[in-house]
Amino acid sequence: MNWKFLVMSSVFAGTTVTLGRLNNRFLRNGLTCQNFLARAFVTHLPVSQNIVRRQRHSINTRLFSTTNSTSSTRTDADRLEKQKQKAAKAAAAKERRRKFIGLAKAVDRGQFATTYQPGGPTGDMFEAKSGLPPRKDDFIVLGIESSCDDTGAAVVRSDGVILGEALASQSHIHEEWGGVVPGLAKTAHEEALDRVIQTALDEAGTTLHDVDAIGVTVGPGLEICLRVGAQRACELAQEYNKPFVGIHHLEAHIMMARLENRELEWPFLSLLVSGGHCQILSCHGVGNYSILGGTLDDSLGECFDKTARLLGLPVGGGGGPAVEALAKEGDPTAIPLTIPLLKRKDCDFSYAGLKTNVRRAAEQLAMERGVESALELSRQDKANIAASFQNIAIVHLEQRLERAMTLVEKQDKAIRTLALVGGVAANQELRSRLNVLCEARGWTMVVPPPRLCTDQGAMAAWAAIERLKLGSSDDPSNQEVYARYPFSMA
Ligand code: KG4
Ligand code: ZN
Repeated sequence: MNWKFLVMSSVFAGTTVTLGRLNNRFLRNGLTCQNFLARAFVTHLPVSQNIVRRQRHSINTRLFSTTNSTSSTRTDADRLEKQKQKAAKAAAAKERRRKFIGLAKAVDRGQFATTYQPGGPTGDMFEAKSGLPPRKDDFIVLGIESSCDDTGAAVVRSDGVILGEALASQSHIHEEWGGVVPGLAKTAHEEALDRVIQTALDEAGTTLHDVDAIGVTVGPGLEICLRVGAQRACELAQEYNKPFVGIHHLEAHIMMARLENRELEWPFLSLLVSGGHCQILSCHGVGNYSILGGTLDDSLGECFDKTARLLGLPVGGGGGPAVEALAKEGDPTAIPLTIPLLKRKDCDFSYAGLKTNVRRAAEQLAMERGVESALELSRQDKANIAASFQNIAIVHLEQRLERAMTLVEKQDKAIRTLALVGGVAANQELRSRLNVLCEARGWTMVVPPPRLCTDQGAMAAWAAIERLKLGSSDDPSNQEVYARYPFSMA
C-alpha cells in the first residue's frame, strides 16, 4: 500500500514539476496533489493548447515570411494602396463637408433659376411694371395670402393701419391627418378665397373698385396653394386695372416688424422662424438681404410640429402653440437633450437631430414607465418633454443669434436692432428670452404681436405697400408662382 502510494506520489510530483515549468502558476498557488489534478485538467489543457496554437502560428508566420516574400511585398503594397484610398475618401468627405458648411437650405448660391430681386442686380432699380397707386397722401391695398394652410385677406392703408381683415383657418381639416395635406389645402383655399376677400373688403368699408393696388403671395410655399391666391389676384388686378405686386412670403414676414414699429430703419438683423424656414438675415432694404445663417435641415416650426405630434397634442394649424402651452407645466431641465451644432462656430441651424433626440428620449421614458409609446405618458412627463425641447430649441437659437450679433456689431454701419419674425415668433418664451438677450447687449428687439407673426392677409398688403412706396410693381399678366424662391445674394 505504502510503496504504491509512493510511486503514485512521485508520478504526481513529477507531473507537477513538469507542468509547473510550463505554467508556474500552479506551484505558486501551493496546490496539493489531489486538487492539482483537477485543476490541471481544467487549466493545463487550454494553456497547452494555446501554447501549441501560438507555436503553430509562429511557424506559419516564419514559413510565410521566408518562403513567400513576394506575396508579402504585394500585401504591403495592397495595404499601402488601401490606406491611400481611405485617406483620399476621408479627404473627399472633408471637402464635401467644408463646402456644405454654411450651405443652408434655400440660400441662393447660384443654384436657383429664379430668385427674388425686385430692385435688380444693384438692389435699387425698382420698376413699376403695372403702374403705381394714384398720388395721394394715403392709398389702400388689398393683400391676399394662400401659401400654406391659411386663406388670408386684408385691406391695409399705406400708413400701416389695418382697415379690414379675414382669415380662414384650415386647422380642422389638417388636424386628423397630423399635418398639412397640400391637395386638401388647395381645395379649402378655393372654397374660402372669395368669401375671405369679401369679408376683408366689407370690414374695411371699401370695394374692389376703390382699393388702389393688389398684392398677393407668389412664393415660397406650396405651389398648388400659392396658385389659388395668385391666379385670383392676377385676374382681379387685370379686371379692375389695379397696380399689382407679387409678394415674397419671407419678406412679408420681415416687413411685419416695420409695420409694428414704423421707426424701424434699415439695416437691421432679422431672425425669421416659421414652419418652413429658419434664417438669420442682415436686412439692408426691400429685396436686399444677406443671409448670415439658415437651417441645414428642418425649420424650428417643423420641429415644434413634430414634437406636438409625438406627444399627441393638437397639430392642426401648427403644433407650436400646444407645445408652448404644455411646456408651461413642465421642467425644462427634466429631459437631457443635446444642443445642436455645438462644434460649428457659424450662424447656421440644425433641428433634425434635436427632433430625433426628443423622440428617442420620449421612447426611453415610455419604456421606463412601462407604457407602449410616448402618447401614453402622463401629462407631467409630456410637459417635461415639451419644456425640455422648447428650452434646448431656444438655447440653439440664442447661440447662433449671438454669433450673428457679434458679426454685425463690427460692421461699418453697426446694427443694433433685432426683428423677430415668422410664426414661431408668436412663442412667448422665445420672445421674452430674446428680449433679455437683446437688452443685455444693448440691442432693441422688435416683434409683431403674435397674431401678426403667423400667416395672414395683412402681411401681403403691407409688403406690397413697402414695394409700391419705392415705385415697384409687377405685371399680373405673366406672374408665376414659386415653391422655392430664395432671396438673391447678388
Ligand atoms: O409663419 P407661419 O404661420 O407659416 C409658415 O410660413 O410656415 O409659421 C407656422 C409655424 C408652425 O410650425 C407653428 O407650429 C409655429 O409657426 N408656431 C409656433 C407658435 N405659433 C405658431 N411655434 C411655437 N410657439 C408658438 N406659439
Ligand atoms: Zn409664414
